[in-house]
Amino acid sequence: MSMKAPRGVNDILPPDSLKWQYIRKQAEEVFGQFNYDEIILPIFEHTELFQRGIGETTDIVEKEMYTFEDKGGRSITLRPEGTASVMRSYMEHKIYGQTQPTKYFYYGPMFRYERPQAGRFRQFYQIGVEVLGVDNPAIDAEVIIMGLHLLERLGIKDYQLLINSVGCPECRNDYREALREFFSPNLEQMCPDCQRRYERNPMRILDCKNSDCRGYMEGAPSIIDHLCESCKTDFTKVCSYLEMVNIPYTLDPGLVRGLDYYTKTAFEVKYNKLGAQDTIFGGGRYDGLGREIGGRDVPGIGFAMGVERLIMTIDEQIEEWPIDYDTDLFIISIGEKATEASFRYLYELRKAGLKAAMDYLGRSVKGQMKMADRLNARYSIILGDDELAKDTATIKDMQTGDQVEIKLSNLVTEMNNRVK
Ligand code: HAM
Repeated sequence: MSMKAPRGVNDILPPDSLKWQYIRKQAEEVFGQFNYDEIILPIFEHTELFQRGIGETTDIVEKEMYTFEDKGGRSITLRPEGTASVMRSYMEHKIYGQTQPTKYFYYGPMFRYERPQAGRFRQFYQIGVEVLGVDNPAIDAEVIIMGLHLLERLGIKDYQLLINSVGCPECRNDYREALREFFSPNLEQMCPDCQRRYERNPMRILDCKNSDCRGYMEGAPSIIDHLCESCKTDFTKVCSYLEMVNIPYTLDPGLVRGLDYYTKTAFEVKYNKLGAQDTIFGGGRYDGLGREIGGRDVPGIGFAMGVERLIMTIDEQIEEWPIDYDTDLFIISIGEKATEASFRYLYELRKAGLKAAMDYLGRSVKGQMKMADRLNARYSIILGDDELAKDTATIKDMQTGDQVEIKLSNLVTEMNNRVK
């Protein structure tokens, strides 16, 4: 059998996994500061949730879902994203009956059958946030600001915030007609996907990655010119809230996002040195999603960040991750009795809160020293049978090389004082 994980699926090994832990911790702290609580969502859902939520004409639903039948004959799909599940959960548990807004964040793997490349995987991780129950444009700005706050916290710079409004269903009807009129003279030269999109949802054409099709997009009508008064006012307000706190942004009328549930505000944050997959995070408002999946109208807005892309960006931008890879101490034992005593002391030291280790492979003293180095131990404790008999041990500072002899029975207090 193959000893390889499926294509586009990665193991995250230590020490890299410490970067993942670090990002998650920073995100939890920032989101906590903005009063978002964690929601832990299922990894799979009924296929229909994504078909109706994300939209039948999107690439995700048309080509990228991991869908299978379970043993009960139900169609199940591994989640390609989190927003539809959040809305389903909000309806299922009637969270709308509670005091609003509802502010959630989530973290976990998502699954899309895409062509793997740098920054694009079939199993990837997202950190997402959703706010339900508020339609005030100030919350749109808050959500964007919070995402940027996290980037700043992670030391990420030189990104670009692109924003647009994709309007409401009324403005979009008008806009779709304008797009059909614009694309119709070149339709026959466009890709089969775009020809289908033309009939079903011409806004999706703007999202086509085919280079020939992209050539026909020059001069396409802009949604901004087709916004109704209410959408226009809301969009102006979102922009003015961003300006109020000096957040630079670029208006991008071509930004339609790859999911159908968006209404009004849509945004993406890009870092252009990531290559073709340069969007670190994307999101927007989705006021129609609740009804689309069979519930009620609920205003909602959120974003999701790709954790792999965050890591690639940080790797590119900072010299050293602020991660503590160190071990407080390593016990080097010489002799059978000393090794047994070390096991006991190790237990006490760890119980006292120290990060401590010893050797279990019967290594020589030199080998144990090497282990201590490999674990970046700040101190090593050298304990032989003779010392054990005299109730002494030697503490070596691994940076300076200084050694002192201490009373073995004071070891835990001594080490605690030194480390803390
Ligand atoms: P999305 O734009 O499909 O939006 O994905 C959000 C982010 O997930 C992307 O910007 C990217 O960083 C990462 N991502 C997406 N696909 C892949 C992949 N195949 N490999 C690696 N990273 C990937 C959503 O998923 C929406 N649910 C966001 C949202 C939340 N909108 C409102 N609320």
